[in-house]
Amino acid sequence: NLGTINIPVNIIIVYPDASTVTQSQIDTQMATLNDDFVNPHTDQLPSGTTFANDATNAGFSFTVAGVYRYNDPTSSWGTNDAVKAAYPPISPETHLNIWVCNIGGGILGYAQFPGGAPETDGVVIGGPYFGTTSGVYGLGRTATHEIGHYLNLRHIWGDGPCRFDDYVVDTPDASASNGGCPTFPSVSCKSADMTMNYMDYTYDACMYMFTDGQRNRMRAIFQPGGARAALVG
Ligand code: ARG
Ligand code: ZN
Ligand code: CA
Repeated sequence: NLGTINIPVNIIIVYPDASTVTQSQIDTQMATLNDDFVNPHTDQLPSGTTFANDATNAGFSFTVAGVYRYNDPTSSWGTNDAVKAAYPPISPETHLNIWVCNIGGGILGYAQFPGGAPETDGVVIGGPYFGTTSGVYGLGRTATHEIGHYLNLRHIWGDGPCRFDDYVVDTPDASASNGGCPTFPSVSCKSADMTMNYMDYTYDACMYMFTDGQRNRMRAIFQPGGARAALVG
């Protein structure tokens, strides 16, 4: 039993004027992560669900190790890891690196699963979605979702029709992503979709839980021999 697993975080901000991503965004983003990965938020569940039995403290905390700001005139970085080549991660074997930059193409963020190359390990988040900002993606949950991927979680619908799995037993099958803020119950396979899971595509205010099965899947990679065991020394 590893207890709460602390993840040290390096934040690499790359913008023409890197000061546009503020200290308040950093602070609110960290507060959101430290809430979302601990509190099950069962009070937010609509009446009529049994999802309260599945919602959990995922058992992770996050602390800022370093903040790096780079002024760079590049207008958009895309999703081909160009920003990581230009500004390499710091100690990716033992730290989560978060690049904050303009990705472009309407992409909020993207992540690398465990087991990939250290040079590209970490998550990338668009500046307007980093920390508490404004709009339907303004509660910092893009980072919660992308760090879910970094910790080995798949999208809740398994990126395919009902028979496609996310390898988590207590997340119900879904046939596709959900967006917006669905009214419960929203059924795409046999039972209600867990639209309020961080690994769906709903609005920030409408996603607020990980399950026990997701907790176990995330924490398994920190066991001896696991892909992220080095983070816990
Ligand atoms: N990779 C996804 C995208 O860019 C992230 C979705 C995050 N969802 C959210 N509510 N913040 O579309
Ligand atoms: Zn995703
Ligand atoms: Ca499942």
